[in-house]
Amino acid sequence: MRDVAIVATGMTPFGELWHSSLRDLFVEAAREVLDAVDHPLLDSIYVGNMSGGQFVGQEHLGPLMADHLGVAGVPATRVESACASGGAALRAGFFEVASGASDLVLVAGVEKMNDGADVTGVLATAADQEAEVYHGITFPGLYAMIARAHMEKHGTTEGDLATISVKNHRHGALNPKAQFRQEVSLEQVMTSSMVSEPLRLLHCSPVSDGAAAVLLCPLDRAREFTDKPVKIRGGGFATAPMALADRVDPSALDAVSLAAARAYRASGLGPSDIHVAEVHDCFAIAELCVLEALCFAQPGSAAELTRAGETTLGGRLPVNTSGGLKAKGHPVGATGVAQVIEIVEQLRGEAGARQVANAVIGLTQNMGGSGASSVVHIFERV
Ligand code: COA
Repeated sequence: MRDVAIVATGMTPFGELWHSSLRDLFVEAAREVLDAVDHPLLDSIYVGNMSGGQFVGQEHLGPLMADHLGVAGVPATRVESACASGGAALRAGFFEVASGASDLVLVAGVEKMNDGADVTGVLATAADQEAEVYHGITFPGLYAMIARAHMEKHGTTEGDLATISVKNHRHGALNPKAQFRQEVSLEQVMTSSMVSEPLRLLHCSPVSDGAAAVLLCPLDRAREFTDKPVKIRGGGFATAPMALADRVDPSALDAVSLAAARAYRASGLGPSDIHVAEVHDCFAIAELCVLEALCFAQPGSAAELTRAGETTLGGRLPVNTSGGLKAKGHPVGATGVAQVIEIVEQLRGEAGARQVANAVIGLTQNMGGSGASSVVHIFERV
């Protein structure tokens, strides 16, 4: 296997982008990548996308996106793993370059959620239809049950959940591409409207449009394109039972633990080596469960870490410096690639007001559905 580097990135702002279609979003992000490296010939393209078919009626994204980027003929395919589609696309591109099959692979993620679709219904297709959705559950409902399980087992409080939202909005306020660029107070979070008890509006990621893209190549060719390559040290992917009722402990995200163990093994690194992390906070409770599954905290103690300010900018392990899904936004198929871009910017020292001092090793964790799939990658500044 060859070492693989990320040599260029491109990203649209995230938000309600009523004037951009699905293809416009992809082309905007992908063109930024190609402009940065003087338009080399691509060997292939992967497009992470959860549900173009249901959100905007568009399937068969590979050829459509290649054509509209002006590179028809290049092999291009869509990768789907619900909200982890972007992370899964990166994994596909990584292996294509690492195997020696290709040199230049464009990995993108894109989603257009604001276009009139029944968003809650479409998102629910990523849960177990027979065991869960048929009975009326929604994604806020599933994560509310995870929150309740965590509260009962570990004594987690609504205040703990609110602390996550306050932190991520504080970070998002510093990110020019974030959907929400305003800080929120603990009181605002705890009095925001109830969505699915105990989760309130300001515990939830929003409904978003956006795209993100990166260019991969073998590390030994990276200097042809940039003097700041970022190496992909390793990754891990895992699955878990889809229905919450089939899990031994719904507050323990087994797919995340397994993906993390694989990524740590592949990279030869451990949790204490990580300087900055982007994790999948689709709801505030998810960030707590994920921090524990990544072994950044013992089960039940991630809230303590957050309360102590260790995961905020300036803390020991800043988490979701982009604003996370909560404030940056969550165009589901694009999220996994956008997480990678935040880490690349951090490791290149290009994160501006959000910069983590001396960041050399970074981690991304992307999650599908209520945790039935998860992808973890670890990156290094070279
Ligand atoms: N965080 C902060 N503000 C939000 C928000 C969020 N998650 N969602 C909406 N808002 C704001 C809107 O900007 C709007 O503000 P304005 O009145 O100042 O313009 C206001 O709240 C009402 O927005 P609206 O679109 O009517 O909200 P909604 O009630 O239809 O939707 C949620 C709110 C929480 C239900 C929706 O954002 C949601 O479903 N989020 C979860 C998405 C999800 O499940 N993703 C997959 C995760 S696995």
